[in-house]
Amino acid sequence: KKIIIAIDGYSSTGKSTIAKRLARALGYIYVDTGAMYRAVTLFALENGMFTTEGIDKEGLLKSLGSINIRFEKKKGGEDAETLLNGKNVEDKIRSMEVSNRVSNIAAIPEVRHKLVEEQRKMGEDKGIVMDGRDIGTVVFPDAELKLFMTASPEIRATRRYKELLGKGKEVTYEEVLKNVSERDYIDSHRADSPLVKAEDAIELDNTDMGKDEQFERIYNHTIR
Ligand code: C5P
Repeated sequence: KKIIIAIDGYSSTGKSTIAKRLARALGYIYVDTGAMYRAVTLFALENGMFTTEGIDKEGLLKSLGSINIRFEKKKGGEDAETLLNGKNVEDKIRSMEVSNRVSNIAAIPEVRHKLVEEQRKMGEDKGIVMDGRDIGTVVFPDAELKLFMTASPEIRATRRYKELLGKGKEVTYEEVLKNVSERDYIDSHRADSPLVKAEDAIELDNTDMGKDEQFERIYNHTIR
């Protein structure tokens, strides 16, 4: 029987790594909801909606209807990439410019409502692994399997730093650690759908756990 797997947790806890692996093993769809919040942030950046006074919220809300986000696999590629109004923005949405602003955009209730609605549609047929911050609490409170991932801030920053370096981005470890901590703070303290562990989620602290061990622990829970 196909199920919904909801994976939440702090930034850079390896949510997408385990999510992709589960999706591959089960033949499920994988959806990275962080990419959707990042795409809205990129849209706001490209349209000059970050001003010295803050976010031009009114402008953004007026444009919400014209923001189209889709995922598409490249020919021969393994993972789906993010399209914003038809343009591949997979690389751009991972920039520090976007990372430093995304949590403020994600705190806007109207933005969340739009994206949550789209995420629910993607899960209508089940057979989906979705990762984010509010999947088990808000998007799919009835998901059959919920995970909540944690790890020490230092290990998370180290992982993110290495990943960004690998992608050729120019960043420092300190900058990444600051970004990860700030996003966790904003994500956990916003009024609308703050980041919290769902009561029925399995908590997985992977500070000292390898990828294979994590996968093996979780995979058993997916068999129904
Ligand atoms: O998953 P990722 O780290 O790429 O997400 C980027 C940001 O998007 C998070 O720090 C958070 O502010 C926001 N987000 C969210 N709800 C989700 C997924 C991401 O608020 N379901």
